[in-house]
Amino acid sequence: MLEVENLYCTLGTNEILKGISFTIAGGEIITVIGRSGAGKTTLMRVLCGLENMSHGKICISGKKVCHGDYGLVQQGCCLFEHMTVLKNVSYALQAVKKFSTKRARAMALDMLTQFGLKDKITAYPNSLSGGQKQRVAIARTLVMDPKVLLFDEPTSALDPEMTNDVVSMIKNIASRGIAILIVTHDLSMSRKISDRILFLEGGKIMENRPTEEFFSDPHSEQTKSFLKNIALF
Ligand SMILES: Nc1ncnc2c1ncn2[C@@H]1O[C@H](COP(=O)(O)OP(=O)(O)OP(=O)(O)O)[C@@H](O)[C@H]1O
Ligand SMILES: [Mg+2]
Repeated sequence: MLEVENLYCTLGTNEILKGISFTIAGGEIITVIGRSGAGKTTLMRVLCGLENMSHGKICISGKKVCHGDYGLVQQGCCLFEHMTVLKNVSYALQAVKKFSTKRARAMALDMLTQFGLKDKITAYPNSLSGGQKQRVAIARTLVMDPKVLLFDEPTSALDPEMTNDVVSMIKNIASRGIAILIVTHDLSMSRKISDRILFLEGGKIMENRPTEEFFSDPHSEQTKSFLKNIALF
């Protein structure tokens, strides 16, 4: 589904990504982990076109990426505070996809119902809990029908129960055949949710392995020291 080949990115005078290659199949969940400054957010920004690559190739199902292929759920949700929950989800369907108000509202209502938020459609974001906000943000992205979904720290502001909620929601989304890439510092969440782990260091992929193998038998010295430091912490 998503194929990334030999991706380089330079910001200012710094080469941040140095030859990143990986693929994600439809329905697969991958998490990207690594130290602060490794280039995780930069990778996400390049994938969804917010930053230019200096070299490389990104394809979805063999075709060049188009606008709308990606959905990005940003850290902290970034809901439109002055819009109701329903409007938050229906807005881009009207503004970007040019759907009628009636159609957009019906689709938004359907999505919010699936996410257990039917009774919140007239509420404003400031009256929601962190977990509810995160669910609205995911519904808002998913309603646009992306092929690839990117999550930046989806559970960083959530308690363990809400984290589990979001984990099962993301798994459910993957089962629809969407390719999912998650950036996180939460290793226990990444262990629960991912099929594979990408370990990024200094703008390069040090490991790309099935989740359990990664944690039980890390190959590179960098990964071993990363996991050791975290275990001590
Ligand atoms: N606009 C920019 N210009 C120059 N350098 C940048 C720019 N944005 C980020 N960087 C540098 O790129 C490197 C990677 O940053 P990035 O935000 O991708 O790291 P990260 O892995 O997401 O870290 P964290 O875990 O702290 O979020 C850092 O060294 C950072 O200082
Ligand atoms: Mg980051």
